[in-house]
Amino acid sequence: MSLTRKRVMVTGGAGFLGSHLCERLLAQGNDVLCVDNYFTGRRDNIAHMLPDPHFEVMRHDICFPLYVEVDEIYNLACPASPVHYQHDPVQTTKTSLIGAINVLGLAKRVGAKVFQASTSEVYGDPTVHPQTEDYRGNVNPLGPRACYDEGKRCAETLFFDYRRQHRLPIKVVRIFNTYGPRMHPDDGRVVSNFIVQALRGDDITIYGDGSQTRAFCFVDDLIEGFIRMMATGAEVTGPVNLGNPHEIPVRELAERVVALVGSPSKIVYRPLPQDDPMQRCPDIGLAQRLLGWGPTVELEQGLLRTIDYFANLLGVPAKSGVGTAGR
Ligand SMILES: NC(=O)c1ccc[n+]([C@@H]2O[C@H](COP(=O)([O-])OP(=O)(O)OC[C@H]3O[C@@H](n4cnc5c(N)ncnc54)[C@H](O)[C@@H]3O)[C@@H](O)[C@H]2O)c1
Repeated sequence: MSLTRKRVMVTGGAGFLGSHLCERLLAQGNDVLCVDNYFTGRRDNIAHMLPDPHFEVMRHDICFPLYVEVDEIYNLACPASPVHYQHDPVQTTKTSLIGAINVLGLAKRVGAKVFQASTSEVYGDPTVHPQTEDYRGNVNPLGPRACYDEGKRCAETLFFDYRRQHRLPIKVVRIFNTYGPRMHPDDGRVVSNFIVQALRGDDITIYGDGSQTRAFCFVDDLIEGFIRMMATGAEVTGPVNLGNPHEIPVRELAERVVALVGSPSKIVYRPLPQDDPMQRCPDIGLAQRLLGWGPTVELEQGLLRTIDYFANLLGVPAKSGVGTAGR
């Protein structure tokens, strides 16, 4: 039995990324405290970890302070997909800001290292491609996405002010589109949308003409980046971009999903929503240099694993047959 287990808190631990992170931290021999209010997270995402005595769950809204003794904090709590964060935009901003203040206050009190899951959305609709960390972004502060984009931007400000003012060890990563098992089936994100529509044989909806590009990182790769970032020395604060720089047009993604599922679905086009960026692609040079990190999972492999997960969830037989469904 290890007497030197780290006590690690993950806010948003019942969500898509958080549940994979909790799994990884447990596998590394840590005591893991998952804090979640289940706004978009699901018990099913973490049910398989509950029997582990080193895994603990706390139902808690991070807009309220919490008092626990921990060594490291990963702050992931925040609805991440536009349908979810626009459902209650005021609450989204509160979660980003008040949540950041609460986790930073906790980190300061117990002397914990604190990690912020920021986002490529801080770049808004970027005017430079690919985006490097020193690009300051092009965000519409008044639009429907601002509750998320500006909330995350201000959370970054708070992290850096806590570092300057209180010498807190902080780690900030900016996450680009990530996909994989345990994405929410109704989150309106492009990968989950296409897979669910293809599995159901429904029309595949593309917003715009499908020429807009996106770059998709598989969840296992992203979590590896989180762990490497947290393990860096105090001088490394970020922000560091984590994502896959390999871009593909959204139309091509739809075609690949349809082919992999073996679906009869047709592709249909709808108007592009307001402030939807045309292109979004990370420059991951800094992550490569600082963390020795880069994505390793090919899109096809990642899609097959995600298709398998959704096929199980929806009770549809998966033609992909890779048999590696996430729980
Ligand atoms: N998935 C991506 O591609 C992506 C991209 C950029 C940034 N991120 C960031 O990563 C983090 C996790 O994203 P995800 O994709 O796993 O989303 P998710 O919606 O699956 O997970 C978010 C989790 O936070 C919880 N939560 C929300 N508000 C809360 C609150 N007030 N108190 C406690 N818990 C709360 C939700 O219930 C959920 O479990 C988010 O901060 C998101 O902004 C994700």
